[in-house]
Amino acid sequence: MRKVCVVGGSGKLGRYLIGHCLDRGYDVVAVCREKSVGKLADLADRITIVPGPTDDPAVIARAVAGCDGVLTVLVPFGLRGYASGTAQAVLDHAEPGARLVFSCGWHITRGDGDRYTRRFRLMVRAVTVAARAIRFADIDDQVRACDRVFASDTAWTVVRGSDLEEGPPEGLPVWARHVGDPLLESNLTRRTDFALFMVAALDDERLLREAPAIVGRGTASARRHPAA
Ligand SMILES: NC(=O)c1ccc[n+]([C@@H]2O[C@H](COP(=O)([O-])OP(=O)(O)OC[C@H]3O[C@@H](n4cnc5c(N)ncnc54)[C@H](OP(=O)(O)O)[C@@H]3O)[C@@H](O)[C@H]2O)c1
Repeated sequence: MRKVCVVGGSGKLGRYLIGHCLDRGYDVVAVCREKSVGKLADLADRITIVPGPTDDPAVIARAVAGCDGVLTVLVPFGLRGYASGTAQAVLDHAEPGARLVFSCGWHITRGDGDRYTRRFRLMVRAVTVAARAIRFADIDDQVRACDRVFASDTAWTVVRGSDLEEGPPEGLPVWARHVGDPLLESNLTRRTDFALFMVAALDDERLLREAPAIVGRGTASARRHPAA
C-alpha cells in the first residue's frame, strides 16, 4: 500500500484512519465536506484534502485517482441517499484492483447466518423510524449502500463495528463472520481500534469480500463483563 484515500476524513473515525495511515507511511488523501476542512487544519501539511460531498462522483473520482486503497466512513445522514451515493461513487471510480474498506455497524447483514437478539432488532427499527421522522438520517440507505458493495466485483471489505467508545488503544479487535458469535459478546470497541482494523484490512487477504463483525479485545470488554 502506498497511497490511501480516506472518504469522510474529518469525523472521529476518519481522523483515526488518517492517523493510522500516516503511522504506516502511506500518502493520504482525505475527502470531507467543504465546511469541515478546518477540522483537518492540524494535518493539512501532511495530507492532501479534497473538499466536497462524499457522494459526489466527480469529487470521489479526483480523490481516489492513483490510490491503492480507499477507506470509506459510510454514514446515512439526510434522506437523499448519502450512504448509497458515497458507496457507488467509490465503487465506480476507485482504481481497478484497489482495496476498498467500508465502515458500518452490526445492523448490516449479508443474510447468511447473523443472529440478532429481539432487543437489537427492535432498537435498530426504532432508531431507523425516529431518524427518518426528524429527517436526520436514513439507516435503510446504509443497508442499500452495503448491498451494493456486497454485489460488486471489487476488492471490498465491509467492517461491521460494535458499540464504540473513546479511549486509549487496546490493540487490533477480534472478528467473527457472523453477528451473534459468542466472541462478540461485549459489544464494545475503542474507536481508534475500529480504525486500526480497517487500515489493517487493506493488507489482509483473509478479509477480501468478507464483512467481519468486530469487537475490542481489551479492558473495554472486561469492564462490560467484570465477572468473565
Ligand atoms: N457511533 C457508533 O456507536 C457506531 C457503532 C458502530 C458502527 N459505527 C460506524 O462507524 C462509522 C463512523 O461513525 P461515528 O458515529 O463514529 O461517526 P464519525 O466518525 O464522527 O463520522 C461522522 C461522519 O459523518 C459526517 N457527517 C456528519 N453529519 C453529516 C451530514 N449532515 N451530512 C453528511 N455527512 C455528515 C462527518 O463529516 P463532517 O466531519 O463533515 O461533519 C463524518 O465524516 C459509521 O460507518 C458508523 O456506521 C458507529
